[in-house]
Amino acid sequence: MATAAEVAQLAERPEAQLQTTEFRAVRPQIVGPDSPESPFPILLAGPVQKGFGRGGKELGCPTANLPDESITPISSVAKPGVYYGYAQVLPPKDGKTELCQDDIRVHPMVMSLGWNPFYKNEILTAEIHIMHEFRSDFYGYDMNALVLGYIRPELDYTSREALIEDIEVDKRVALNSLARPQYAKYQEDPHFDFSCTVATS
Ligand SMILES: Cc1cc2nc3c(=O)[nH]c(=O)nc-3n(C[C@H](O)[C@H](O)[C@H](O)COP(=O)(O)O)c2cc1C
Repeated sequence: MATAAEVAQLAERPEAQLQTTEFRAVRPQIVGPDSPESPFPILLAGPVQKGFGRGGKELGCPTANLPDESITPISSVAKPGVYYGYAQVLPPKDGKTELCQDDIRVHPMVMSLGWNPFYKNEILTAEIHIMHEFRSDFYGYDMNALVLGYIRPELDYTSREALIEDIEVDKRVALNSLARPQYAKYQEDPHFDFSCTVATS
């Protein structure tokens, strides 16, 4: 039986528009004002959870999912959609990990907040794709993220290839948008941890 929270989420699930070639043709390469405006920046934090694993296997875009309670800071102020910002994976407290020093830096990210209409998910998820090649998985590790802007609504697709193409555009749009000085400076934000190090292996 669905919990009260799940029932509420289902009730609020919006009908997603189908992606069209016209939509792709007019997509801007940079989005948002020259510096983040309310409700951004939005701070998120939580242990990384496993999703269905389709991001890495089917879309070539692995995602780190946040637990339900970590989604509220954004789901309470922003609509479902694709967002951009920065994220950092933190090593375990003992510093023992397969990750290297470069993996635990602050990296650009794109985030999908919603019901993944293409896969017809039943619950709202926040999935962060960190734009960095990690040495290993980091499920269970803490992740901090700062969401700085909105890219586009979640869409439904008639093919997986079209979703993959849109995600590639999202990544380029995020990098272009984050390159502006008033966004780039958030890489140094105190929400992130600059004291952590990992044991060299
Ligand atoms: C940048 C980005 C944009 C996405 N846009 C959409 C979208 O428009 N529609 C959709 O159904 N899913 C979208 N997704 C979600 C993917 O479907 C989801 O990440 C994938 O199903 C992997 O989830 P899983 O790891 O739980 O299997 C997007 C994901 C990312 C990272």
